[in-house]
Amino acid sequence: MPGPTDARPTLAVIGLGYLGATHAICMADLGYDVIGLDVDAARIDALAGGTVPFFEPGLDELLGKVLPTGRLTFTTSYDDIAAADVHFLCVGTPQRKGENAADTSYVDAAVDSLAARITKPCVVVGKSTVPVGTAERVAERFAGLDVELVWNPEFLREGLAIEDTLHPDRLVFGVKAPRGEQAMRAVFAPIIETGVPVVVTDLATAQLVKVAANAFLATKISFINAMAEVCEVVHADVKKLSEALSYDERIGGRFLHAGLGFGGGCLPKDIRAFMARAEELGVDQALSFLTEVDAINQRRRARMVDLTRGLLDDTLPGRRIAILGAAFKPHSDDIRDSPALDVASRLHDAGAHVTVYDPAALANARRDYPALAYAESAVEAAVDADAVLHLTEWPEFVRMDPAALGDVVRQRNIVDGRNALDAARWRAADWHYRALGRP
Ligand code: UDX
Repeated sequence: MPGPTDARPTLAVIGLGYLGATHAICMADLGYDVIGLDVDAARIDALAGGTVPFFEPGLDELLGKVLPTGRLTFTTSYDDIAAADVHFLCVGTPQRKGENAADTSYVDAAVDSLAARITKPCVVVGKSTVPVGTAERVAERFAGLDVELVWNPEFLREGLAIEDTLHPDRLVFGVKAPRGEQAMRAVFAPIIETGVPVVVTDLATAQLVKVAANAFLATKISFINAMAEVCEVVHADVKKLSEALSYDERIGGRFLHAGLGFGGGCLPKDIRAFMARAEELGVDQALSFLTEVDAINQRRRARMVDLTRGLLDDTLPGRRIAILGAAFKPHSDDIRDSPALDVASRLHDAGAHVTVYDPAALANARRDYPALAYAESAVEAAVDADAVLHLTEWPEFVRMDPAALGDVVRQRNIVDGRNALDAARWRAADWHYRALGRP
């Protein structure tokens, strides 16, 4: 068992998606020998060749820095990681098709493959976001082996993944016994030494911290979007309302931006999985408010379509609409549950001619939404448009010159789905500017 006084442990990282690839690269950068495992051979080839198979600022450079040291290697074979001292489980837990619950089959498969190879004492660290109770089930699968199971949820945000891995707000170690905590303190020593707070809990609490954090963030966003719904009726300004609220330190301004709402691979599926688990546990009433959080979030998308239709004399068929943004948020190429593409599809289904542009997510959008049209720039997307919809707040859209865009459109209608454009600037350039929750 590796402890604070032992030589540096060898780490294995199982599952090289967002979380795992970032974790493996960062731990190698901290000086550890790391073996990254994924069942997807193409992903392994890309990483071993120095290419990160998704968009994350700075991660390609960090991979390029650590690969020549020889500390970071990749494999598709569990045999190659059998000798590691610490195994991090970083596989995905997507939403089950047609259900709210999380699909934990990748966790189960990884644990079974690992358990069949383990021949020496080791630590297994669960990082995947799982329904509470999964860790206890995983522990049973290692019964009879000298495995110390720990749960260590991650809170990394896409676009800030390196920062959130190396300088997290906190580290949470869910442990069954003191030696689990000792092992974690040793592995994370370079990060803990920088002053990062450590919270040691039992396994159940550690699993809950992650979903509770995401439920809180989703609730905060839906709260301000609910206020936006009210603002729309009384002609109040939700952006000013949010600013006024933000000066109360108990409330704070972060995650209080009203707009098209949340998407991505985490918030939507995590609140749904949390509700599904609560129902299994008989405490569904405690989380019934999350049904409304989800509903408010979905209503923003419908409202965006209605607002656009209203701008276009209640007719969508045949109208040309430019959509600025496809990623679920800026600085990402991730289109999972993207509000922007959901709105684009709804408008397309209603008969509009929709052209999408995004600085990073075009390839992914083209693959998953082949029926939509695409452009290589904002201006190209806006040619002859009857309305321009700003749905992902990339800096290049926020900086855009309203006059230049005005030259190519058919009608100067802009709908700011993210409340991020300077309304006065657009109106000064003769645009009809509309936003969610604002007069
Ligand atoms: C989130 C959590 O922040 C992170 O801690 C967790 O580990 C994974 O899930 P991420 O999915 O990268 O991270 O996105 P995040 O930055 O949280 O944004 C989520 C969504 O909320 C985006 O679609 C964003 O546009 C939206 N959002 C965010 C708002 O609509 N308003 C806000 O004020 C903030």
